[in-house]
Amino acid sequence: MLAACCEHGQAPFHLWFFLYHYQMNKVGQTVAEAIRARRSIKSFKSDSIPEPVLQELLSLMQDAPSSWNFQPTRVVLIRSKEQKEALAAAAWGQKQILEAPVTFVFAVSIRGWDKHMDEILKTGVSSEAWPQKFADWIRENAPGFQKGLGEKEREYAIKDAMIMATTLALAAQERGYGNCYINGWDEAKVKQIIGVEGDKNIGIALVLPIGVPASHPKHPGRLHPSKTIFTDRIPSPAI
Ligand SMILES: Cc1cc2nc3c(=O)[nH]c(=O)nc-3n(C[C@H](O)[C@H](O)[C@H](O)COP(=O)(O)O)c2cc1C
Repeated sequence: MLAACCEHGQAPFHLWFFLYHYQMNKVGQTVAEAIRARRSIKSFKSDSIPEPVLQELLSLMQDAPSSWNFQPTRVVLIRSKEQKEALAAAAWGQKQILEAPVTFVFAVSIRGWDKHMDEILKTGVSSEAWPQKFADWIRENAPGFQKGLGEKEREYAIKDAMIMATTLALAAQERGYGNCYINGWDEAKVKQIIGVEGDKNIGIALVLPIGVPASHPKHPGRLHPSKTIFTDRIPSPAI
C-alpha cells in the first residue's frame, strides 16, 4: 500500500492516512499504544472476531483482579441478531450494539462469593499463591466485611466488573479491535434480556460492544491535569 501511495505522487497525505489507520488497528500494540489509540467507537464493520482471538480475549479478561479474588463478575456475550436487537432497544437504540459482532454485558453476582468462597480459597492454597493461614484469615474476615458493606456491596462488585471490562477493552484494542463503554441502558430491561429478571442479587455494570471500527473518532480532549490530579489532598470544596 505504501508503494501504491508513492506511485501516485500523493505520498504525504496517503502516508499519513495509512499510518494513522495502521496505528489505530495495529495488532500487537503495547499497553501505552492501546491506551492512546482507544476511542469510543460508535460504528463497527460487520467483520466477526475469529474464535481463537475471542477465546484469547476471554482468557485475558478472566485474569482481571477482584476484591478478595471473589470474582463477582458474570459476563454475557450477546451474539444473536435477536438478542442484539433487544439489547440495543434497552439501550435507547444505540446502534453500536447492533453493528458489533459481539457485545459483552458485564453483570455482577453481588453475593456470588457465598457460593464460590470454598473453591476460591482451595485454589489459592493449592496453587501455592496463598498460605493456608491466609486463606483461613479470609474465610474468617471476608464474609463480615462483605456483609458490613450493606448497600455498598453492589458498588464493590461493580468496581470489579469495571476493572474486568477495562482489561478486556484494552486487550481487544491491543489486537486491533475497538469498543465503546456503554452506560446508557435500562437495567431492568438488560436483566430481562440476559435471563435474570427480578433477581436482586444481580446488578448490571456495563455494556461493551467490540469489533472492527468503521470509523475513527477524534480524541475529544480531557480536562487539564491541574483540575483532576492532586498530591496528597483534593482542594476543598472539591473542584
Ligand atoms: C462508563 C462509561 C459509560 C459510557 N456510556 C456511553 C454510552 O452510553 N453511549 C456512548 O455512546 N458512549 C458512552 N461512553 C463513551 C464516552 O462518551 C467517551 O468515553 C468519552 O466521550 C470520551 O471519549 P473517548 O472514549 O473516545 O476518549 C461511556 C464511557 C464510559 C467510560
